[in-house]
Amino acid sequence: GTYPQLSYPEIAFAGRSNVGKSSLINRLLNQKIARTSSTPGRTRQLNFFTINDTLTFVDLPGYGYAKVAKSERKGWQRLIENYLVHAPNLCGVVIIIDIRRGPEEEEKALADFLAYHDRPFLFVATKCDKLKRSQREKQRQIVARQIGDEALLLFSAQDGSGKDVLWQEMLALTSGQ
Ligand code: GTP
Ligand code: MG
Repeated sequence: GTYPQLSYPEIAFAGRSNVGKSSLINRLLNQKIARTSSTPGRTRQLNFFTINDTLTFVDLPGYGYAKVAKSERKGWQRLIENYLVHAPNLCGVVIIIDIRRGPEEEEKALADFLAYHDRPFLFVATKCDKLKRSQREKQRQIVARQIGDEALLLFSAQDGSGKDVLWQEMLALTSGQ
């Protein structure tokens, strides 16, 4: 017979506070499922969203938010790292960058950390609606170079651009499991 499956392939979303993780998840699903806020540091736990009994999205707490006490930040970091290393169903991590800011040390450190632990990841530059079309391609090249010429997808939670390609890439991660 068939048994109910209790866990599904997971894709996690990481990035600094306020970069647009929850908005990206909502746009991918066309649902207001993840809480978004203009107040940075809003997502403070790992939030799991299971979609159609097939796939689970994990909205990670944003890092790099200065107004949080150091002790609390350490706690989050331990929580996130523990999850990223040990999660049995984790297929890949989407590292989200603001296209206007590019990566900082945290994003590079996260990519190194994931590579070290053999966790697949992909980079997404979001908020690309904030740039004019001509600036966008220029900035894409700059950011791609900054991340060591890893693949970089452009995305906008506001207008949905990049959504189909991101879905394809994520599904490729889950089918590789
Ligand atoms: P934390 O959970 O606090 O770490 O934040 P987050 O990374 O989940 O960011 P969130 O999705 O809450 O978005 C933060 C702010 O950026 C909100 O005001 C969003 O409306 C805005 N935002 C997110 N994505 C986009 C985008 O693609 N384009 C534009 N223009 N604004 C965006
Ligand atoms: Mg959030």
